[in-house]
Amino acid sequence: MSKSVQIYNAPRKLNCDHLLGTFLGDEHYSMVVDDDVDFYAPTNPLHPKNDESTILFKFRKNVFPAELQNCAYEGLIQAAGPSQNRGLAAGPRNEKLQNRDWVTAFQLAVLEAFLDTETRLDDSDPIDQVILNQAANKYNGTPSRGLVWLRNQIIASGETYEGFFDNWFARTKPLSPVERCAESRRLQDNFISDTTYANPVLSGIAGFFDRYPRIPYGRATSYTEANPDLFAKSFPYLAALTTCFKHLLPQRFAKQQAACDQLDPHFVIPGSVFTTLTINKTFRTAAHRDAGDLGRGFSNLGVIQPPGSRDFKGGMLVLPEYEVAINIRPGDLLLIANHDAIHGNTAIEPVRADCCPECIERMSIVAYFRESMLELGSWEYEQYRRQYVEHRKALGKKHPDSNGPLWNGISKGMWDGPEWREFLSSKDGGPEMLEKYHPLSAEGNLESFFT
Ligand SMILES: [Fe+2]
Repeated sequence: MSKSVQIYNAPRKLNCDHLLGTFLGDEHYSMVVDDDVDFYAPTNPLHPKNDESTILFKFRKNVFPAELQNCAYEGLIQAAGPSQNRGLAAGPRNEKLQNRDWVTAFQLAVLEAFLDTETRLDDSDPIDQVILNQAANKYNGTPSRGLVWLRNQIIASGETYEGFFDNWFARTKPLSPVERCAESRRLQDNFISDTTYANPVLSGIAGFFDRYPRIPYGRATSYTEANPDLFAKSFPYLAALTTCFKHLLPQRFAKQQAACDQLDPHFVIPGSVFTTLTINKTFRTAAHRDAGDLGRGFSNLGVIQPPGSRDFKGGMLVLPEYEVAINIRPGDLLLIANHDAIHGNTAIEPVRADCCPECIERMSIVAYFRESMLELGSWEYEQYRRQYVEHRKALGKKHPDSNGPLWNGISKGMWDGPEWREFLSSKDGGPEMLEKYHPLSAEGNLESFFT
């Protein structure tokens, strides 16, 4: 990192919100960064000088030696399983992904609405709601359920494939409910594959995660919990990433370090200032902003190519608002304001024309501090929360809050009543935790729980 670093300011910032959820390409940048660069937001009279508050990215070539990359690859690649949770980043559902023609959420909604043959007393038509939802973009970002169109069957039936569904929809909508139902069945039986394909996005998380409604306790991610030794292989890479972060953005680093210091150390990846990693495997992200990371900290991004993978081209990270693309390659380091700046990749393709896409593998790692982790209690306290959920779930229908055989142990108000207080009190250190995390002054008094 001793080479000279070029410093740029973006000349302007475009409004690119309309690009969110779409794939970015050559038309979205006018400059390619391929060397060590510090890139700042446009200066303005209120902020005439570049500093860490206006940095958009710092890019450094060839930072991580092969052995560090290989260990990180080994330690993390299995975390990148099929995922349906990448929202906008997963790309548009109405386009071909990995050369498959997905049945979009809108198309599925139409097919389902046409199956409804009930006669209504009023004049309502179920398809009207689908059209309204479509107009309000409500199907954008909805997973396609992995169903694909059988292109060859459609063409063999004499239809023109391009625009086929829209034409069919226009023809079918005016028909009677019974005819619509028959048409919907015909399409589903003849033109949609029986096989559901796994979501094409290979992305996962490692490290630690905060509470959310379905999992209301802080925890290690399932990958990290099941593979602690494997996960530990990534630590040297993450420690090197941390050192670079400290060196390149000392003020942002200090804020992230301070956030780590507020957290139980069990929730921080050892030797780093990161709680959480997102691991993507040969995943071309569509335009999106990252969410959940510490705003005053910074995201760290690296790309790794495993031994044996054929060379790839593309996968550049484009920032369309600033009309710049970063040609990030294996071993490079990118510190980037992923939280504020819209970003997405160009296509990832084999260099050799005779290579199939499966011959190439590009793993990217985004390392960050999850801001909501700051709401967690100690590791032990979060473990007790977990035990409480599992205890309630194990009681099943014997528990008065159970809503059926699939009950997950979670119900509204479960942390407010005497049941949780009694459970926690019975644990080692529980009474102290009650006082710390559930002080009665803040929650009323015990009598109120029994009235
Ligand atoms: Fe991102």
